Amino acid sequence: MKILLLGSGGREHAFAWKMKQSPLCEALYIAPGNAGTAGLGTNVPLHPNDFEAVGAFALKEAIDMVVVGPEEPLVRGIYDHFKADEQLKGIHVIGPSEKGAQLEGSKAFAKKFMMERDIPTAAYAEFTQETLEAGLAYIDQHATPIVLKADGLAAGKGVLICQTAEEAKDEFRAMLSGKFGAASARVVVEEFLDGIEFSVFVITNGKQYKILPVAKDYKRIGEGDTGLNTGGMGSVSPVPFVDENLMRKVENWIISPTLTGLREIGAPYVGFIFFGLIRVDNNPYVIEYNCRMGDPETEVVLPRLQADLVELMLAADTSTLDEVQLAEDPRAAATVILVSGGYPEDYEKGKTITGLGEVEGSIAFHAGTRLEDGLVKTNGGRVIALTSYGADFKAAVAASLKNAEKVQFEGKYYRKDIGFDL
Ligand code: AMP
Ligand code: GLY
Repeated sequence: MKILLLGSGGREHAFAWKMKQSPLCEALYIAPGNAGTAGLGTNVPLHPNDFEAVGAFALKEAIDMVVVGPEEPLVRGIYDHFKADEQLKGIHVIGPSEKGAQLEGSKAFAKKFMMERDIPTAAYAEFTQETLEAGLAYIDQHATPIVLKADGLAAGKGVLICQTAEEAKDEFRAMLSGKFGAASARVVVEEFLDGIEFSVFVITNGKQYKILPVAKDYKRIGEGDTGLNTGGMGSVSPVPFVDENLMRKVENWIISPTLTGLREIGAPYVGFIFFGLIRVDNNPYVIEYNCRMGDPETEVVLPRLQADLVELMLAADTSTLDEVQLAEDPRAAATVILVSGGYPEDYEKGKTITGLGEVEGSIAFHAGTRLEDGLVKTNGGRVIALTSYGADFKAAVAASLKNAEKVQFEGKYYRKDIGFDL
């Protein structure tokens, strides 16, 4: 099989690493990829949102499968673009239709979808500029903290947790006035859920599904989960508090009704669903859906997945998922992300990275890197994900931290407390 993987982060390096292990993978292209993926396949300078160019490349190289890493091309309808084209429609596209991707593309859509199906989630209401006054009144009556969410994609920044009604009203007005551009023209106001978060992933075709190893990510920049939200500073798998009992509830109350709902609304869905969950009183609630794998969760989920990933994705698209055996590595895995100084606010790129060759006992997945004159340079906020195995998550984190000292670049920062709350 000739495979084209779209994206350029740590998630995509982990996908490339896992797919490369499959005997089914004859050729691998990554668009645009990074310095890490360049060692596993051929990087192609294409933007994943440029569907015409992606389609033309797929035809030219006789690509059999397109695997879509990030959410944006999915929300913009890359699946539908392929399926509507006579020449492209035979290609396996791993990622949902535009309609299915709305689970992530519109928070208001996702909330309504869950409410209509009694899928446990925080109580909410949605507002636009026309209903601003009603929104302010709603906030006034609401218990604090209050959660405000931009309806559309806002690069992970569109969620605000406000401690007072005053703060919430100011932010609410700012959001409706374009704080996150068109993404916050509609705002979801929701109840704050107090609990501990975890991430559940399935690969599905809308009917059949397989559950991948469960993970937990650490989103805040500072130790002890303080400071600004980031794309993710580290993750662990498995998650000690997620037991069989909790997972049974996740399957019965959340996964099954979500798939039933997707079928009811007629949304083709071949790909991954990421359930961002929170445990409150030993019950799971949905914080958010994502229509793709998580980053940095993928960097611990795929290393623990004992299955042929290419076979699994192919099985999803050929309705044979039930025939595939999937097991989990009994070891724990953890990843620690090395980020650029200043991230998630302003940071510089182009710093030379050294010491990658000295990494021992960890996998260095590249998140934001590029090759320049034979040197690996920083090219993003999140730079390297150091993944390790261990008897438990503590041992795995310790192994990653040892290697975190060896990899050097100006301004490097990382959290040393991944897993601190487990
Ligand atoms: P999201 O972008 O939807 O993942 O939200 C970012 C983060 O905000 C989540 O990972 C949670 O930590 C937090 N969050 C979102 N919604 C809620 C909620 N209803 N209650 C508590 N925390 C929330
Ligand atoms: N780790 C959270 C995300 O991928 O959105």
